[in-house]
Amino acid sequence: MCGIVGVLGDHEAAPILVEALKRLEYRGYDSAGIATINNGDLSRRRAVGKLVNLSDLLVHEPLAGKAGIGHTRWATHGAPSVANAHPHRAGRVAVVHNGIIENYRDLRAELTAHGVGHETDTDSETVALMAQHYISNGDNPRVAATKTIAKLNGAYALCFLFEGEDDLLIAARKGSPLAIGHGEGEMYVGSDAIALAPLTHRITYLEEGDCAFVTRDTLEITGVDGLLVNREVKTVEIGDTRVDKAGHKHFMAKEIAEQPVVISEVLGHYLTGDGAGINLPGEGLDFSKIDRLIMIGCGTAYYACLTAKYWFEQLAGVPVEVDIASEFRYREPPIGARTTALIVSQSGETADSLAALRYCEGKAEKIVSIINVPESSIARESDLVLPIHAGVEIGVASTKAFTCQLTVLLLTALKAARDRGVISAENLADRLSSLRGLPAILNQVLTRDAEYETAARLLAESDNALYLGRGLMYPLALEGALKLKEISYIHAEAYASGELKHGPIALIDKHMPVVVMAPRDQLFDKTVSNMQEVMARGGKVMLISDPAGAKDAGDGVWQHLTMPAVDPVLTPILYALPAQLLAYHTAIAKGTDADQPRNLAKSVTVE
Ligand code: AGP
Repeated sequence: MCGIVGVLGDHEAAPILVEALKRLEYRGYDSAGIATINNGDLSRRRAVGKLVNLSDLLVHEPLAGKAGIGHTRWATHGAPSVANAHPHRAGRVAVVHNGIIENYRDLRAELTAHGVGHETDTDSETVALMAQHYISNGDNPRVAATKTIAKLNGAYALCFLFEGEDDLLIAARKGSPLAIGHGEGEMYVGSDAIALAPLTHRITYLEEGDCAFVTRDTLEITGVDGLLVNREVKTVEIGDTRVDKAGHKHFMAKEIAEQPVVISEVLGHYLTGDGAGINLPGEGLDFSKIDRLIMIGCGTAYYACLTAKYWFEQLAGVPVEVDIASEFRYREPPIGARTTALIVSQSGETADSLAALRYCEGKAEKIVSIINVPESSIARESDLVLPIHAGVEIGVASTKAFTCQLTVLLLTALKAARDRGVISAENLADRLSSLRGLPAILNQVLTRDAEYETAARLLAESDNALYLGRGLMYPLALEGALKLKEISYIHAEAYASGELKHGPIALIDKHMPVVVMAPRDQLFDKTVSNMQEVMARGGKVMLISDPAGAKDAGDGVWQHLTMPAVDPVLTPILYALPAQLLAYHTAIAKGTDADQPRNLAKSVTVE
C-alpha cells in the first residue's frame, strides 16, 4: 500500500509534507514525491527509492508554496521509477493515490478516444488525466474531481491539488483509509492519524464512498450518494514519542524490545483487578453460546490464528476453522448458526482480511476483530473489537503485534474454557498467574541478544533454511520462516515436523540449516526422532528448546538456543522471540533493511 498526505497550511508545505511522509514510509518506499501550489503555479518533485532521496532532491531543488500533497509508494502498476512516482500530473491537476483502479484500462481507452494519451505505466495517472479532461471541457475542479471519482472502480484513497487553487484539496476514500486533520487555520489529509500526529490530534475519518472538499476554513463531506454528511471529529492521541527508534538501530529492534512492556499492558487491559479473571470489552463474548469459530488473517496474523486454533480446541473444546483471508473469501464457505467469525489484523486495513469480514456479514452470528488500530476499517465494520494495545508498529515485519495478538487470543480461549465450564475459576486463576509472569521471562530472553547474533551470522551464510515445529510450535515455525525470508531474503520454509519424511527430507544435506522449535513437551520425543533423521543425513540442526530439551537432545546439534521452561500453553508467545531475533540478526548480518525490506509494505490494502 502507499501513504498519502495533503496540507493547506500557513507555513511552507514541503517540510511538513516530507515529515508526514516519514511517518507513512512504513506503508511503502519504492518512490516518493510532493507537489505544491506557489503563487498559483503547480510544481512537483519526485524521487525513486526511499524518502531520503526526495529530501536530498528538495535541498537542491526546493519547492515553495503553502498548499501541497505528498506520496510514498509501494508499486502496484509500473516499476518504481520517477516517471511512475506520485504525485501524477495532467495539466492543472495533481493527484496522489493509494489503492488500485481496476478499470483504469477502460478509462485510458476512453481518454485515448478523446485524444488524451498517457505517459506512465500506472493506473493512478489515469485519475489525473480524467480530471484534467473534464477541466478541459469547462468543468471546475470540484465538478471535475467528482465526475472522475464517480468513474473509478476498485480501491482508492485520493487527494487532488489544482493549479490556480491554493486553498483547495479534494479527497476521496473507497477501500483504502483516509483521514482529515483539523489544525488551527490549517487543514490536512492523511492516510492515517500517525502521519498527522505532529500536526493535530483532531481527526475525521472518511467513510467508504466519502468525498471531502477541504479549504483552510471549511470541510464539506459528501457520502456515497453525493449528499452532504457529517462525520465526527475525534481526538486521536498518538504520541510522537512512539514513532521514533528510542535509541535502537531499527524500529524492528525497538518493537522486539517493547514486547514485555506491551504484553503487560495488554494483560492490564484484559485481566480483572485481582488478576484472576478476564474482562473482554463491550458486551464481550459468551462462548457457551458459540458452536464454532472461524478465524481469518494474512501472513503473521494468520499464524496467530493457527496458534489460537490449538488453544481454543485444546483448552475450551471449541471447534475452530482457520483460513487465509485471500482464500476464504473466494471459497465462499458455508457459515452455519452459532458461528462467530474472528478476524486478526495488525493494521485493520488489509484488503483480503476486510473482504473476508464482509463475506461473513449477514452469515456469521458475530464478527469479532483483534486489531491494533481501533479506528481502522476492519475495526469499524466489526460487531466487537478486541484491541491488542501494541502501540504503533512501524517495522514491516510484525513482532510485538504478533505476541500481543497471541496474548489476546490466549485470554479469549481461556475465557471460552471458563464460559463452557471446561476449567474452574481456580484453574483459570492459575493459568492467568503464569501468564502474568511471562513478561519477566521474555525480558530474560531479550538480555541474551548476543547468542542470536552468533547463530544468525552462521544462518546468514545459507541460501535456504527449514523450520520445523509440532503442535503449538508448528505455527511458530511458519512465523519463524516468514520472518527470516521477509527481512533477510533467505528462502525459508516451515513444516510440521511430522511432515518432514513425507517429502521435504529430500532437501536435507550439509548445506541445509534446520531450525527446530521444540520445548520439552509431550511431543518432544517425536521431534527428537525428526532431528535425528536430519542429522543422519548431514543436515545442520539449530535446536531452540528449554534446558530439559537441550539435555535430552542437544548432543550433535549444529547450534543450540536455550529458552526458559514455561507452561506449554505459553510457549508460542515465548518462542516468537527467538523467531524474531534470529531473523533480525540474520538481516543485520546480511546487510538487508530490517525495517523496510525490499518489495514489501507494512499493510497490504490492495488485493
Ligand atoms: C508480517 O511480518 C508481514 N509483514 C505480513 O505478513 C503481515 O502480517 C500481513 O500482511 C497481515 O497484515 P495485518 O496484520 O496488518 O492484516
